[in-house]
Amino acid sequence: MPSDLNVLMEMIASEHANADDFANVKLPDSMKALVTLREEQEMFVGMESEDKDPRQSLHYIDVPIPEVEAGEVLVAVMASGINYNTVWSSIFEPLSTFQFLSQFAQYYPRNKKHCLDYHIMGSDASGVVVKVGDGVTLWKPGDRVAVNPSVATLLKHQGHSDGVKDPDGRAWGFETNFGGLAQFCLVQETQLMAKPEHLSWEETASLALVSGTAYRMLVSENGAKMKQGDNVLIWGGAGGMGSLGIQYVLNGGGNPVAVVSGEEKAQLARKLGCKLIVDRQKGRYRFFKENGEENQRHLVAFRAAVERLLENEQVDIAYEHTGRETFGASVFVAKRGGKVVTCGSTTGYQHSFDNRYLWMHVKSIIGSHGANFTEAYEANRLACQGKINPVVSDVYTLESAADSVVKVKANEHVGKIGILCLADKEDLGIRNTELREKVGEDKINIFRDYARQKRAVEEQDNVA
Ligand SMILES: NC(=O)c1ccc[n+]([C@@H]2O[C@H](COP(=O)([O-])OP(=O)(O)OC[C@H]3O[C@@H](n4cnc5c(N)ncnc54)[C@H](OP(=O)(O)O)[C@@H]3O)[C@@H](O)[C@H]2O)c1
Repeated sequence: MPSDLNVLMEMIASEHANADDFANVKLPDSMKALVTLREEQEMFVGMESEDKDPRQSLHYIDVPIPEVEAGEVLVAVMASGINYNTVWSSIFEPLSTFQFLSQFAQYYPRNKKHCLDYHIMGSDASGVVVKVGDGVTLWKPGDRVAVNPSVATLLKHQGHSDGVKDPDGRAWGFETNFGGLAQFCLVQETQLMAKPEHLSWEETASLALVSGTAYRMLVSENGAKMKQGDNVLIWGGAGGMGSLGIQYVLNGGGNPVAVVSGEEKAQLARKLGCKLIVDRQKGRYRFFKENGEENQRHLVAFRAAVERLLENEQVDIAYEHTGRETFGASVFVAKRGGKVVTCGSTTGYQHSFDNRYLWMHVKSIIGSHGANFTEAYEANRLACQGKINPVVSDVYTLESAADSVVKVKANEHVGKIGILCLADKEDLGIRNTELREKVGEDKINIFRDYARQKRAVEEQDNVA
């Protein structure tokens, strides 16, 4: 690490450096980042999605540190996290993200700098403010922060009732450049939130995107407005979105029914406090026949399994992000007047479902995307209180992050994968040890303990 970075690292580790110290530190001209390259955006054309290998498209290279302009903040990224959108970016699906960067550049002169021949992706980050642009009043150098990935300019009227409706709104590190998978990232000041000080850098970084998204989907007026006692079907209960969904349902007095594949994931959902679990591997559900028609027998069997667990009650809310292969089942199992709230389509975004179950049973579908400033703030506040816990399982370095993207793409991970950017080891950045103790390592480390045990068994097997 060059000496400028060493000074910065010492200041971050120290309790004594003040805003002026941080503002005066000389930053290097370049930084390490994980990028895709414009010249390679056609590299996977004609290949099946499953054959596209993110290790071919993701590059760990040196790039310049971006200029900081009015309203912007440069953050020294201690840790980041892998979200599914980095999988999409890395395989250029459904679109090359260079198209997003070009569109973004058209709006305002300052966005032009985002349209480069490389894309630094990553929609999560935790770190320390090192530079603020003119007019920034909310943050100063030295502040320890988490990043909300929803960018909103609020220059147009539509965004003022809800920032997610801002026509200029973008997903940071996906539709913009200078995301979290780098040593420094560039954000708008309204994207920053105070770091939960009982969490490490990687735990903090792994939360914001999935937690804010889950909050909007389940709790917010803009989402499904879950109430006490609601039965909520949670797909992918041991994945990023699912594990946060379970926590929000339990916090709000609802009854989560988690769907997972396999007993190990079922155990993780149980450890989060979810008692009702459907193992889709055991059930061998196939909601579509070979010819693409919905498979009524499997839909009925799945609904019966869910309602048995609910002791003959029905699903009030289906929490969807899995997409094509499950969406019809979500519409089918939701009760009359129930809601399907969706933020994504891991298995395909062209959904097909029998609309009779929707219109005749007056169900509604709610589209949801990220979190507005208030929702992100509320989600972060719950993390700061220790009421929403991180779900980090494995931790990789920035240099090896492409391997973790492969793992997420293959659905071989659980919870969230943390990435160390400037932090040189795990478990740094914890200041409020009292709160950490009160919340309990067992609650904070459910997924990490599982991953550690699994690694130990694999290592023993390799030795044998
Ligand atoms: N719009 C937004 O703001 C937003 C924000 C966050 C995430 N998302 C989207 O939400 C999705 C999930 O993100 P994530 O971070 O939670 O990803 P993740 O950690 O990979 O979790 C996805 C889960 O989906 C389940 N799954 C995969 N294939 C399935 C299938 N055929 N049937 C049923 N379940 C299946 C898996 O659970 P099991 O194998 O255990 O069943 C897995 O744990 C992604 O598409 C992402 O892009 C959108």
